[in-house]
Amino acid sequence: MIKKITSASSLKGELTLPPDKSISQRAAIFSLLYDGVSEVKNYSQAQDPQSTLSCVQQLGAEVKEENGTLIIKGTGRKNIKTPVKDLDCGNSGTAMRLLSGVLVGANISAKLVGDESLCGRTMTRIIKPLEKMGAHILARNGAYAPLFINRNEPLKPLQFELPIPSAQLKSCVLLAGLFGEELTQVIEILPSRDHSERLLNLDQKVVQDRKIISASLADEIPNQSYTIPGDFSAAAFWLVAGAIQNDAEIKIGNVGLNPTRNALLDILDEMGADITIENERMEGAEPAGDIIVKGSDLKAIEIDPKMIPNCIDELPILSVAMLFAEGTSTISGAEELRHKETDRIMAMANMLNAVGANFEEKEDGLIIHGDPDFSFSSANFESYHDHRIAMAAAVLSLKGSQESFIKDAESAAVSYPGFWNDLEDLSTS
Ligand code: S3P
Repeated sequence: MIKKITSASSLKGELTLPPDKSISQRAAIFSLLYDGVSEVKNYSQAQDPQSTLSCVQQLGAEVKEENGTLIIKGTGRKNIKTPVKDLDCGNSGTAMRLLSGVLVGANISAKLVGDESLCGRTMTRIIKPLEKMGAHILARNGAYAPLFINRNEPLKPLQFELPIPSAQLKSCVLLAGLFGEELTQVIEILPSRDHSERLLNLDQKVVQDRKIISASLADEIPNQSYTIPGDFSAAAFWLVAGAIQNDAEIKIGNVGLNPTRNALLDILDEMGADITIENERMEGAEPAGDIIVKGSDLKAIEIDPKMIPNCIDELPILSVAMLFAEGTSTISGAEELRHKETDRIMAMANMLNAVGANFEEKEDGLIIHGDPDFSFSSANFESYHDHRIAMAAAVLSLKGSQESFIKDAESAAVSYPGFWNDLEDLSTS
């Protein structure tokens, strides 16, 4: 689908976000591991969480919906079923990587498949530690899905220092470790999103600036009954859309505010954005609140590479904010972006090129020469079937003086099915 976006002269209104994608997927997987019934409120209808939900059903979870709440009867760790069909993870790296850990731990043989984008993303990062734990994994060219997962030796515990700050990798190893008699430990140097540790209530300690997270069969899996907060990564599009628009006031209700996820708030604050947080509270193990953003003058920023894991999914939309900020901004240390749903550095560069921006592409990021008065008339954007690129291009399109077009815009539904309606509701041309 090609989406036509009309420029906006103002952005005003209140919106409710899609439920958090990362937490929804964990709620489904951890409910499978829980030996009992979990009641998950506000589970995401987006494609990735729905892929995960159907995989856990194939693994034995019984799922029904009552008045918008998912009632999930888990199998517990001992009774996970061998799926009769392939486990289709769709577009979701989180599903494939976390489920691989569960399969290895539970000693279930299965084939994991995904769409073209997912089959192009390296799985070497999980294959290596899982093989050390006793798994036998067959992958296309040794690195790519489909993955055939098998284990015909006892599960071995692992002491694993994360070679990259990845929450998917961390969670994969910990999930396998949850099935072992002996302790598996993951050592994290730079913090990545900590939803798994929180929702599984895993033991964590900090030793010399490193976080050590432990998991074994002795850990009780907590009941997963909670309400999933709104997705901060979805809020990011409106935070930037509001910040770069002169006439804007957007209220975003019930946003997840996990500190390992929301570095964008600190970044936008330093850039001079007008953002207020209200009604801060806890939703189960996760912090949440409401956010109000108004238009303001932004100034350039150099992102500390240490912050990258805490804003990794927000970098495409952050590049749009940088384009309208006074001065030169840099994103560096973000090579991981090249391994997302698409090579996002390439995709961001092409998005910026489409409007004639002044920038340089680096192997690990971008240097963007911004200007608050930057203008363009119209553009044709490629989304590369990547939800976050499609939505970032949409926010950028609002600033054109004429209509712009976004290719394969339906990909937004991977994380945010209501995005195009919300965009229409907020904007006045
Ligand atoms: C996710 C972790 C991040 C993020 C992805 C979701 C998760 O990936 O980019 O969208 O749910 O754990 P990495 O952990 O691989 O960086």
